[in-house]
Amino acid sequence: MSEIALYGGEKLKKTPFGTGKRFGEPELQQVKEALEQNTLFYWFGTKVKELNRKFAEMYGMPYCVSTSSGTAAIHTALIAAGVTEGDEVITSPITDMGSIIGILYQNAIPVFADVDPNNYNITAETIREKVTDKTKAIVVVHLAGAPADMDPIMELAKERGIKVIEDCAQSYLTYYKGKLVGTIGDFGCFSLNDFKHISAGDGGMILTRDEELYRAAFRSCDKNYNRLGKTTAEIRAIDSVAPNYRMSEVVGAVGIAQLDRLDFICSTRNRHGERISEAIKDLPGLTPPKVVGKEEGSKSSYWFYLMRADEKGLKVSVQEFVDALKAEGINVAKGYLNNPVYGYGLFQNKCAYLGTHAPFDSKYYGGNASYDMGMCPVAEDVIENSIYLVLNEFYTDEDVDDIIAAFKKVSDYYQNR
Ligand SMILES: Cc1ncc(COP(=O)(O)O)c(C=O)c1O
Repeated sequence: MSEIALYGGEKLKKTPFGTGKRFGEPELQQVKEALEQNTLFYWFGTKVKELNRKFAEMYGMPYCVSTSSGTAAIHTALIAAGVTEGDEVITSPITDMGSIIGILYQNAIPVFADVDPNNYNITAETIREKVTDKTKAIVVVHLAGAPADMDPIMELAKERGIKVIEDCAQSYLTYYKGKLVGTIGDFGCFSLNDFKHISAGDGGMILTRDEELYRAAFRSCDKNYNRLGKTTAEIRAIDSVAPNYRMSEVVGAVGIAQLDRLDFICSTRNRHGERISEAIKDLPGLTPPKVVGKEEGSKSSYWFYLMRADEKGLKVSVQEFVDALKAEGINVAKGYLNNPVYGYGLFQNKCAYLGTHAPFDSKYYGGNASYDMGMCPVAEDVIENSIYLVLNEFYTDEDVDDIIAAFKKVSDYYQNR
């Protein structure tokens, strides 16, 4: 048994992790073309339209609308789904605020359903427990590149007449039983922020199959102007408020070039992730993330890699196991978030808008939203007892060999010391 680096042994990772350029000639060429149009407004130029066409085609969908961010995409989808003050929207407690912000901006009430212990996504069973007559929509987050179990969720949503918005910000080219996530619900929302599989600095995209929902989304991110209308009166028929979340032509141009990189990025991450799962599955105290429906064609694109960790099996605290891996040169952290989303002050104090309790005390709501700690015990356990491992498409196979060797070395040490 070799001494671990945390206690003075030799560090396992001796070479730097692979890196690479995310942007190059194709992006430069696209941006140049965008600028040469002499307009950067999406409705006059060709780049955002081209991005919409290309992304819709890649996903086999009839309609795509682009926005200024992933948060904006989800907010736009919520508006188009008809979510308004007094409605409840069910979502995940393990996610980015981007999944939640639009719900609150509609003065609707976020309701948190618990997650599956091994794929960290909400399920039909946990959602069902939270459905009420006020439930208007579900924002299903496909966390870390892995699909939520969509068939039973869609069945429940149909049964109760609830709209489904898939939050695919972390899940490009993720498959659920042979179907791409983002094509299953009423809307699929994506992020182009700089930390995602692909980046345009910031940006978002919304997929839908329904022409009416498309038209609603199209105007809901553009001040409610109906640019698809024929007359000025049609274009300016404003009957409710909508934000300006338009994407500019420069962002659209970068997005077009980035789409060509997606296949490589997602297939490499999938290969690395699957190798790691295979290698750690028998290490005591570690459980790889579950890809639901893998035998039927599900596939994760591993935006990051989150495994369950159990102190008893590890024979050491999760924190020390993480520290030992870090000392070996591996990019890991304890968990993905510090607490579930409902643990934030915003929910604990029921204060989304400073100095008020709106929307929680809205007369249109009349319910009693509860955000007590302990309400989603599985999510809280996942947050406490998991290890977050950075994955990157530029990592080489040797990098992945080193990650696996480091996990084995550290595990071996604590099992046998
Ligand atoms: C799951 C999830 N949803 C939504 C968002 C929001 O995306 P954006 O940062 O583009 O607004 C993010 C981004 O971090 C995310 O990870």
